[in-house]
Amino acid sequence: MRVIGKGVNREDGYEKVTGRALFADDHSFPGMLYARVKRSIYPHARILEIDTSRAKALPGVLAVATARDIPGMNVVHVVIDDQPLLADKTVMYVGEPLAVVAAETPEIAEQACDLIDVKYSKLPAVLDILKARGKSSPKIYKDNNVFAHHKIRKGNIEEGFKKADIVLEQIYRTPYQEHAYLEPQGMVAVPRYGSTMEIYGTMQCPFYVQQAVADITGLDLSRVRVVQTYTGGAFGGKEDVPSLVAGQAALLAYHTQRPVKLIYSREEDIISMSKRHPAWIKYRSGVTKDGKLTAVEIEFLFDSGAYSTLSSVVLWRGIVHSVGPYNVPHVKVDAYAVATNKVPCGAFRGFGSPQVIFAAETQMNELAAKLDMDPAQFRSINLLQEGDLTATSQLLDHSVGIGDTLKAALGSSNWRDKRKGSGGTDGSVRKGIGLSTVFYGVGLGAGGKQMARAGAYVQLLRDGSAQFAVGTTEMGQGMRTVLSQIVAEQLGIPYKKVYMIETDTSRVPDSGPTVASRATVMSGNALIKACAPLREILLKRAGIILGQDPQFLIFQDEMIHLEEHPEIAVPLMKVIEDCHHHRENMSHEGWFISPETSWDPETGQGKAYFIYSWATNIAEVEVDIETGQVKVLKITAAHDMGKAINPLLVEGQIEGGALQGMGYGLMEEVLVDEGRIINPNFSTYIIPTVIDAPEFQPIIVEKPFRDGPYGAKGFGELPLMGVAPAVTAAISHALGITLHEIPATPERILEAIQAAKKANLNG
Ligand code: MOS
Repeated sequence: MRVIGKGVNREDGYEKVTGRALFADDHSFPGMLYARVKRSIYPHARILEIDTSRAKALPGVLAVATARDIPGMNVVHVVIDDQPLLADKTVMYVGEPLAVVAAETPEIAEQACDLIDVKYSKLPAVLDILKARGKSSPKIYKDNNVFAHHKIRKGNIEEGFKKADIVLEQIYRTPYQEHAYLEPQGMVAVPRYGSTMEIYGTMQCPFYVQQAVADITGLDLSRVRVVQTYTGGAFGGKEDVPSLVAGQAALLAYHTQRPVKLIYSREEDIISMSKRHPAWIKYRSGVTKDGKLTAVEIEFLFDSGAYSTLSSVVLWRGIVHSVGPYNVPHVKVDAYAVATNKVPCGAFRGFGSPQVIFAAETQMNELAAKLDMDPAQFRSINLLQEGDLTATSQLLDHSVGIGDTLKAALGSSNWRDKRKGSGGTDGSVRKGIGLSTVFYGVGLGAGGKQMARAGAYVQLLRDGSAQFAVGTTEMGQGMRTVLSQIVAEQLGIPYKKVYMIETDTSRVPDSGPTVASRATVMSGNALIKACAPLREILLKRAGIILGQDPQFLIFQDEMIHLEEHPEIAVPLMKVIEDCHHHRENMSHEGWFISPETSWDPETGQGKAYFIYSWATNIAEVEVDIETGQVKVLKITAAHDMGKAINPLLVEGQIEGGALQGMGYGLMEEVLVDEGRIINPNFSTYIIPTVIDAPEFQPIIVEKPFRDGPYGAKGFGELPLMGVAPAVTAAISHALGITLHEIPATPERILEAIQAAKKANLNG
């Protein structure tokens, strides 16, 4: 292949590094106003009165809108319609929007927000997920504070534990994680022609935004056009919440009939936008003395915050991944999304799985230790193989690369020697090495089946260049580049001749959200379908020119020639010109529907995802036992993504995802006091930087997916998934203790060392 499998430069790289790329805040329109949002200061309170008169009287203020001023529905639709755009009768979390203001300058808008007088009557807040389940807890959602409950029932759990020689039960906890995208939330709403609305902004899911704006304004979907601007990072944080931001801007544009720009400050972004769900996970598993898993029983709770948003689907992905990539005959899992009076949690790279993966992998490592077995050996006994059934009894009939990733990572990291040589007594520094093995369902799966389709539009122009449009978005992950490579390969033209038009709801049909590592497979396949008629037309025309039967012609090196006789050839460029001359339709569309998935909600059994990607992570660390400080030396990450359409981007994803996973495991903490986030900035919410970056060893394993474009499976989220448990496993190896909670901050590590000492003294 000419372009597929090559590490071509990012299509959008030049614009981004030179500063020419226009992000949300770089867009301006004549007569544009600036918006700010008035927010709740209490986690739970009844709204007695919102007095906007002083704000409205401020010179330069064009509009102040509350829930009463919404012409359509006061709802931000995600799964269950429980979230209003603007709070009406009660506020449910600190930072919840109450009113929006449009003014001539952002400063006036801010000042007007301060002039809005809100009278509250405080209500008791639900802040802890375990307490929220108690009878005496105040009820903020139905009569149990539970947004969603999912189950898995496979085999017979009692029987499974009876067969076990060792049973281990442990509670694990995982924290919030803030997306920390460089570009905060931002939207510009532009009313056009009196009765239409255009939206420009930073987002993953333009079709969600289109629906939200239609709901709020009461306009038909046909009158709402959403254009994605260059998006400075998202990681799931721009999946559902941009609907809220766009709704706020659109509401003001509707009332003023002027363009309105709304850009969140970093502080309000962190306070009010979604996070990774904190989790409480009770994990119990049984194993024979030969190391074979017999049963896994799990109960886990996600802290969903004040509104359900994506929680039920995040929980669903969590439950499917909760047992890990292991062959376990007897499984029982109960998962709950619990309501609290805190910021609503939502999508974050991994979408409910890094939490359960931390628990699963830590437990597997503990089981191996109990058996006095190398954790890699323990994995090779239990890992899923072709022909096995997952925890949801899905038959894995092909593309199961987990064993290959394990083998590659073990070899490359020199695992065996390092595992023996760890510990060490070099002053206060101890060395350790640890691993994790993970899988990841690609696409929306059975939990989002109705949206598992995508459209594409391709034009081959008379100068031999091609233009295409898809409904999925570029957010930094490299989709634009990968899809351009696919189009170039399909049409036989150079990569540089392919241009992707900005994602725009008016160009292609609703293609679902850009989430769940689905863009390469879904839009890639839609593009291949759109290119098929173009290829046919080109071959037919070349056949006429050459006087040959088109079925014996092939594309090669910008020529079309007879397969058996390469000398009987015509330049592709000449064929393209001829096609245009003969009035052929050189623009076509493609539509791809995902392979089937299924799910039984009572038993949690079914084909959850149409395919899985696989990875092994090995982390090497140094721990200072006097300070508790951890230095990650190296992460070896072997990934099976079916086919690396662009190996350079794959390596970049692995490095970025691994660093993000390292932050999750070691340092990132959203601090909440009585429902209030007290560290909403990057000087107190600490993420890893280049200084913390270890040496990365990315390894590509390719087990082709038969329904993937060129065999690709998609893996954008996977690099983060298994890193936190690999790092804590390495810490455990270095110190001879086990950490059941992340982040493994120096404080927590010192505490664990102290606790271990005490336990030793006591016997
Ligand atoms: Mo992604 S966390 O599926 O937006």
